[in-house]
Amino acid sequence: MAKIVVTRWIPDDAVKLLAEAGDVVVSPADRPLTPDELHEFVAGADAVVGMLHDRLDGALADAAGPGLKVVANVAVGYDNVDVPALAARGIVVTNTPGVLTDATADLAFGLLLAVTRRLGEGERLLRSRTPWSFHLGFLLGSGLQGKTLGIVGYGQIGRAVAKRAEAFGMEIVHSGRSNRGSVPFEELLARSDVVSLHCPLTPETRHLIDAAALRAMKPGAYLVNTTRGPVVDEAALADALEAGEIAGAALDVFEKEPEVEPRLLGRDDVVLSPHLGSATVETRTAMAVLAARNVVAVLAGRTPLTEVKP
Ligand code: GLV
Ligand code: GLV
Repeated sequence: MAKIVVTRWIPDDAVKLLAEAGDVVVSPADRPLTPDELHEFVAGADAVVGMLHDRLDGALADAAGPGLKVVANVAVGYDNVDVPALAARGIVVTNTPGVLTDATADLAFGLLLAVTRRLGEGERLLRSRTPWSFHLGFLLGSGLQGKTLGIVGYGQIGRAVAKRAEAFGMEIVHSGRSNRGSVPFEELLARSDVVSLHCPLTPETRHLIDAAALRAMKPGAYLVNTTRGPVVDEAALADALEAGEIAGAALDVFEKEPEVEPRLLGRDDVVLSPHLGSATVETRTAMAVLAARNVVAVLAGRTPLTEVKP
């Protein structure tokens, strides 16, 4: 029997699929495993189903041993996976594109609405039992109609966000590698009232939003990040907000997850959510089932549905 190791809880539908292809061992720990624990846990595995908080690299493959055939990341982003190191050992790598596009675009748009309409502030005001009354000048936000949304990274999720923004009457500009109609990144920053990040985390996009990029944004602009934390320099973002260089930010992902830059935690012009982009029952099930199908395919000697090539 093949040994299939799952580094953290996954929905039952996916476990059932995996169980048809081998013995499934799911980590009982209700937390990310440390690298040492992870390496010990994967020993002897034919397949590893991993999470975005796991470092899935050559050291993990060596700890698993020569039987390891497939590493299935339950995420579309695979910055946590050393694809060349695994490919060099003949190990297939898969991710979960497509199934989380709408859920992530919904959350990005939810954050965009929350930050521009000051919903977090309003919630905190009520919960702190602060007296208030309807007032024409009270907690005014920024309207979206006729405003420009800059989408950085125009892949499946970026396009799905554009669809939603069009329905709200926004103009779209986008930047990214080799997309028709994309504008240069500098132009996008200068034109956008809201900048939403949908590029993968790569060496090129690490700290793409740094002090200079924040200064290049409009003074009244907002930043939304639902991709990966390190695309934004969080300290530079806190500086820019303190200096009034932009109007606000909404973040679902963080540079040193699960930690959040303390200066951002204290700010009313920042909306925060704990990496919930794909967090619906339907989507998380679809992601885990896709990862399981990929594992089953590779163990049966077939091509997986969504392979990541180096
Ligand atoms: C979630 O962040 C993912 O990459 O799927
Ligand atoms: C606002 O609540 C309105 O009725 O205009």
